[in-house]
Amino acid sequence: ISHFHTSSDLKDQTALVTAGPTQEAIDPVRYIGNHSSGKMGVAIAENMANRGAKVTLVMGPSHEKSHHPNITTVHVTSAQDMFEAAQKAHPHAKISVFAAAVADYAPAVQAQEKIKKSTDDLSILLKKNIDIAKTLGKEKSEDQYHVGFALETNQEEKHALAKLKEKNFDFIVLNSMQDKGAGFKHDTNKITIYHKSGKSDASPLLPKSAVAALIVDHIVKDL
Ligand code: CTP
Ligand code: CA
Repeated sequence: ISHFHTSSDLKDQTALVTAGPTQEAIDPVRYIGNHSSGKMGVAIAENMANRGAKVTLVMGPSHEKSHHPNITTVHVTSAQDMFEAAQKAHPHAKISVFAAAVADYAPAVQAQEKIKKSTDDLSILLKKNIDIAKTLGKEKSEDQYHVGFALETNQEEKHALAKLKEKNFDFIVLNSMQDKGAGFKHDTNKITIYHKSGKSDASPLLPKSAVAALIVDHIVKDL
């Protein structure tokens, strides 16, 4: 199977993909962020686009981009921005894939001027961000399909299964941290898919494009 060859098993379907990190501003020159590259989300968006789907890619700050004619990219910065863009696209999306590494917290207040260094230590109060996948999971209709991701450092399966249920996903993709080539910043991933039916499926270490093809194969099989 090739992820480069174009097929039509998602022809006339619409999809939403969240991808990349979010940045939560502290002041005009600083933010809280994470190491997500956005590669996995872009690979999934491109795979679905190659199969004929029209994809809205809601993308946090990332160097990755796609020029695929079936992909419309909406660039966002914060988790709140990402939520608003995703919520707008969600009612039109048959398939939603939540691949973004959304910041869980943001500074409670954003300083209007650059914070000056003082002799004291600095504390920043963080407020919880909205959970995009969970919120849209509650708005999900019978004929909509949701896929989530999980990255865990301990009790991987238990945590992944809890997220599968809590966020109303059809399946969740667990990114294995056990392997040095997998996860953030790498071009390869090793995944286990946990389906709401109770079935699971583990992959070997694969390039992100092949992992994307595998994930989209699972979606197509279910539609
Ligand atoms: N997610 C989201 N919005 C958030 C946080 C997470 O849409 N504010 C989505 C991610 O895109 C992913 C899934 O929820 O598909 C799981 O994200 P993860 O960070 O692993 O789970 P959390 O619920 O945030 O729990 P924790 O970080 O404490 O493990
Ligand atoms: Ca999180």
